Amino acid sequence: MPPIESGLSGSVTWKSPSNIAIVKYWGKYGEQLPRNPSVSFTLNNAFTKTSVSYITRPNDGGDIVDSFLFEGKEEPSFALRIENFLKSLIPRLPWLAHVKLKIETENSFPHSSGIASSASGMSALVLCLCDIEENITGQKTNQDEFKRKASFYSRLGSGSACRSIYPYAAIWGEHAKISDSHNEYAIPCIDIDDIFKTLHNDILIVSDKKKSVSSSAGHQLMVDNRFAPARYELANDRMIETLHALKNGDIKLLGNILENEALVLHALMMCSEPSYILMEPETIKLINTIRGFRRDTDLDVFFSLDAGPNIHLMYPDHQKDKVQSWINSELKPMCVDGRIVYDQVGTGPKKLI
Ligand code: PMV
Repeated sequence: MPPIESGLSGSVTWKSPSNIAIVKYWGKYGEQLPRNPSVSFTLNNAFTKTSVSYITRPNDGGDIVDSFLFEGKEEPSFALRIENFLKSLIPRLPWLAHVKLKIETENSFPHSSGIASSASGMSALVLCLCDIEENITGQKTNQDEFKRKASFYSRLGSGSACRSIYPYAAIWGEHAKISDSHNEYAIPCIDIDDIFKTLHNDILIVSDKKKSVSSSAGHQLMVDNRFAPARYELANDRMIETLHALKNGDIKLLGNILENEALVLHALMMCSEPSYILMEPETIKLINTIRGFRRDTDLDVFFSLDAGPNIHLMYPDHQKDKVQSWINSELKPMCVDGRIVYDQVGTGPKKLI
C-alpha cells in the first residue's frame, strides 16, 4: 500500500436496502461462505442510510471508530460490533488502520419492528468504505468492480447483505449451471421480467421482539442437521426453477417456490438439535388467510418469511388495489398494533453525498 498522508478528510453517505431471499441461504462454512446458492429480491423502502466522515492519521493501533450514532443516539453494542468488523478487515483493507471514522446511521423502518437490518446496515456501511477507499488511495474502479467489491465485503459483515448491492434481484453462491456465480460475492440477476421489478413486498409485523435464536446460531445448527444434504440439493435445483420463473414472468411458479422455501427454512429450524420455532400463532393464521384468499380470488398473492415470524406478502403491482383493500380490512388487524411496512422491489443502493 502506498503511504497515506495524514490529515486528509471527507465524508460520504449511502443508502442501501434490505433484501428478501426467494431461495434461502441457510447453512454456512469458513468465512461466511454459503452451503447453498440463493437468490433474492432487492427491496426499496426498507433501507439504511449511513454517513461516514473520515480523517487519515498515522497507524497507532487504536480504535477505528471515533464516534457512532444510531438514529441520533450512541449505541455501544452496535459500535463495538462495527469496530470489530472494521478491525477484521484491516488485513484486506490496510488503509483502515490509518483512519478515524465518525459513523451515523439510521433505518427507514421503525426500530424494533422485527425487520432484520443487518443486510441494509452492513451493505450501507461497506458502500461508504469502498467509496472512502477510492478517495484515500486515488484508485478508482469501474462500476461493476466497485459493486463486486462492495458485495464481497458486505458478505463478511453479514452473509445475506452481499445481495443488497444489486437492483431488483441478486444471486449469491456457486452453482454449476449459473456462470459467474460465486461464494464470495453476489452477482446481479439480470434476466428478470418486468412484472417482478415492481413486485410488492409488504412486511406484516407479527412480533417486534428480538429473536430467541440468532441467524448465526441457526446457520451453525445446520452442521448436524440430518436433512442438510437434501436441503442443499433442493436449493440447487430450485435455483434453476427460480431463474426460469423470473425470466418468464411466471408468477405462479415463483409464488409456489417462495412459499415452499419459507416453510422449508422454518422446518429446518424446527428439526434442528436443539429444535426451535420462530413462527408465532399469528404467522400461521396469516398463512392460512393468505392461502384462503388466493383460492377464493385467484389473485397472485404469496408469502415468504425470513428467519423470524413476520410475513412478507408479495403481489404484482397490477393487482394492488384489490390486494391492498383486503390487506387493510383482513390482515392489518392481525398485525401487532396494525403495523405493516409497505415495500416493493427496488433499484438498489444509492449514493446520496
Ligand atoms: O445473512 P444472515 O446470516 O443474517 O442469514 C440470513 C438468512 C435468511 O435471511 C434466513 C435467508 C437469506 O437467504 O436471506
